[in-house]
Parts: sequence; structure tokens; C-alpha cells
Amino acid sequence: MEILKHAHSGLRWVALILLIVAIVNAFSKKGVSLYVKKDKMINLFTMISLHTQLLLGLILYFTSDKVKFIEGWMKQPMLRFYGMEHFVMMLAALVIVTIGRKKAEKVEAPYSKHQTIGKWYLIGLLIILAAIPWPFRNLGAGWF
Ligand code: HEM
Repeated sequence: MEILKHAHSGLRWVALILLIVAIVNAFSKKGVSLYVKKDKMINLFTMISLHTQLLLGLILYFTSDKVKFIEGWMKQPMLRFYGMEHFVMMLAALVIVTIGRKKAEKVEAPYSKHQTIGKWYLIGLLIILAAIPWPFRNLGAGWF
């Protein structure tokens, strides 16, 4: 379980970097740009890293001692965060990124594809940044 926790914690950086790369890549495209395999791969690997986080997170959700539905759990910041806030917000971010990719697939024009990815991935990134238990939030988590 310690290994899983560290994997989940460390993979946040991979997911965040990939998200930023995908967003910068999307918004750097001009009207004449194409949507090539490299773009597709960046966007796909970003989504895979997020889905991996979901999988690891789900296992942690059922095993972590930071998720306990004891009486008054909603009144305890740490139990409320991991039991509800972290889970719900990360799930929302993942759905948004996935919808963004699906929408981009349906759009014909390459420039619009990039814009669609850029916008939806950016919303996902903002939610993820807000839902990470950064050390300064005192939720019992570290930087790595
Ligand atoms: C992009 C998605 C996600 C990111 C970036 C992320 C990131 C993190 C980070 C940084 C921690 C703190 C680890 C530490 O330093 O101790 C954490 C803990 C945790 N996450 Fe996530 N998470 C994501 C999705 C999820 C999801 C979807 C779930 C639930 C289904 C989940 C469940 C948990 C649990 C239960 C813990 C507490 C583990 C423990 O310390 O016992 N995470 N997450």
C-alpha cells in the first residue's frame, strides 16, 4: 500500500506535466496547423496518465485510513477531503478531459481540434490543481 501511495503521489507530476504540455501544444497551433500523430499521442498519453491515477486512487480509496465514514467524518477536514472532495473533483476533471478528447475527435478542422483540446484540458488542469492535497494544505500529504 505504501508503494501504491507513492506511485499515486509521484504520478501527479507526470500527469501535471503532460497536461501542461498538451495545453501549450494545443494553444500554440496556428490556423494553418495540422492535427498530426504527435498531437494525438500527447493528448492520449495525458489522458492515460489521468486514468492511471483514477485506478490507483480507487484502490487507495478502499484501503486508506484517510477515508473513513465514521460518525462526523464530514466535519473533519482530512476525512472530508479524501472521502469526498478529492474523489469528486478528480473524477469531474477526468470526465472533462475525456469529453474534451471526444469532442476534438468529432471536430473536422485541425485548428478547432486544437482549440477544443486546449480549452477542456485547461479546465481539467485547474480542477486538478485545486484538488491536490498540497503539503501547505495540511492534509497529511507530501510533495512526492
Ligand atoms: C488526476 C487525478 C489525481 C491526482 C493528481 C491525485 C493526487 C494525489 C496526491 C498528490 C495525493 C497525496 C499522496 C501523498 O503524498 O500521500 C493523493 C492521495 C489520495 N488520493 Fe489521489 N489523485 C488523483 C485522483 C484520485 C482519485 C480519482 C481518487 C479516488 C478514487 C483518489 C484517491 C486518493 C486517496 C484515497 C488518497 C489518500 C492516500 C493516503 O494517503 O492514504 N485520487 N492523491
